[in-house]
Amino acid sequence: MKIRIIFLVLMVLSYCIIVSCSEETKSQEYNPTPYELVLPASLPKPKLPEDNPLTVEGIKLGNKLFFDDLLSGDNTMSCSGCHNQKHAFTDNELALSLGIHKEEGKRNSMPIFNMFYHNNGFFWDGRAASLREQSLMPIQDPLEMDETLENVVKKLKATKEYPQLFFNAFGTTEINPLRISLALEQYMFTLVSGNSKYDRYQAGTDQFTESEKRGFDLFFAERDPIPFIKGGDCFHCHSGPNFTNNEYMNNGLDEFFVDLGLGAVTKKASDNGKFKVPSLRNVQVSGPYMHDGRFKTLEEVLDHYNSGVVDSPTLDANMHGALLGLKLNEQEKTDIINFLKTLTDEEYLTNLEYKKNTD
Ligand code: HEC
Ligand code: HEC
Repeated sequence: MKIRIIFLVLMVLSYCIIVSCSEETKSQEYNPTPYELVLPASLPKPKLPEDNPLTVEGIKLGNKLFFDDLLSGDNTMSCSGCHNQKHAFTDNELALSLGIHKEEGKRNSMPIFNMFYHNNGFFWDGRAASLREQSLMPIQDPLEMDETLENVVKKLKATKEYPQLFFNAFGTTEINPLRISLALEQYMFTLVSGNSKYDRYQAGTDQFTESEKRGFDLFFAERDPIPFIKGGDCFHCHSGPNFTNNEYMNNGLDEFFVDLGLGAVTKKASDNGKFKVPSLRNVQVSGPYMHDGRFKTLEEVLDHYNSGVVDSPTLDANMHGALLGLKLNEQEKTDIINFLKTLTDEEYLTNLEYKKNTD
């Protein structure tokens, strides 16, 4: 008799458990939708990290986080505060970004697109090895968003929508810094730029003007001293489909370095004054230029390369021609600028999918 009762109780208990479990799975089904990153033909297949597959839900969460002021110490600033789509996700024409305390940071904000090609570190000095690692640093930077990860997690947990969004993306309502960074990484990987006039020219579907064509030739020409052949030597460093070799180099801005760049990270004097070679896609809209935003216009940039390069122990060998002077005339400088402007990609700059998701 006793045994029968125990058996019955057990039956009822296990029924309850099974039913309540299945109820749970019904309302909480984890079924993320794989997202296929479609790239224009001009861009080679990217290598995405295998441990963070892109999903519609992950990207949606990353998008929300990217535009959310809750990530900052006083809830007034999101990533988008210094990364505005219409400026190729750089700051709003500020040389140095302002953080939540309205103090200037140390560097010029960087553009965000085609991040999957960056295989050699992030930031001007390469101090972040991966995009997910990078994404948590501005949150904690006292000159930027000045917040602790612990607080961010606490604030997100207290909202109505985030636990569910984390479940949809990662199969758990548990919010932690790693999952925040993975979602931000996913969103940033979807920002693609490869449909500029230059890409269409390469594909044979658009024409260059005479000036753009001359600028293209100068950009990809080697400056030769004897006999003197004009060239910009630009392609040595701004090379490949993303217009960067992903290296850290010294392009002759300073004789003495206020900011050591890569050298401060590696602690090697031979890296002092070296900064990440930036992509030149969308450069028309991403000014001011260089790691400290010292040049307001592309004209100033061209003047630098043409006649402003200064020597220092780590000056890149590819700058030695420029050190002697590229001797480009006004028209030739304008031609290179006109070529650079063909790298502007309106589709990327206005793509509605990249904007703040409001559903
Ligand atoms: C206060 C302005 C500011 C805010 C807010 C900000 N950033 Fe940045 N971002 C910068 C600056 C400045 C740099 C360059 C910093 C450096 O090199 O030291 C940068 C660099 C980057 C880079 C490096 C790109 C590359 O090519 O290496 C990425 C990616 C990025 N930010 C993403 C984010 C994300 C994600 C957030 C939000 C979590 C964010 N940023 C918030 C100003 C900001
Ligand atoms: C030796 C490698 C090298 C060569 C050659 C070179 N660059 Fe650069 N370029 C760099 C590096 C490195 C930076 C970033 C430097 C910094 O901020 O300290 C840069 C920055 C720039 C920027 C600013 C982009 C931004 O987002 O701030 C432009 C524009 C540019 N280069 C155009 C050119 C043009 C045009 C040529 C040819 C006339 C050229 N570069 C030749 C390495 C090079």
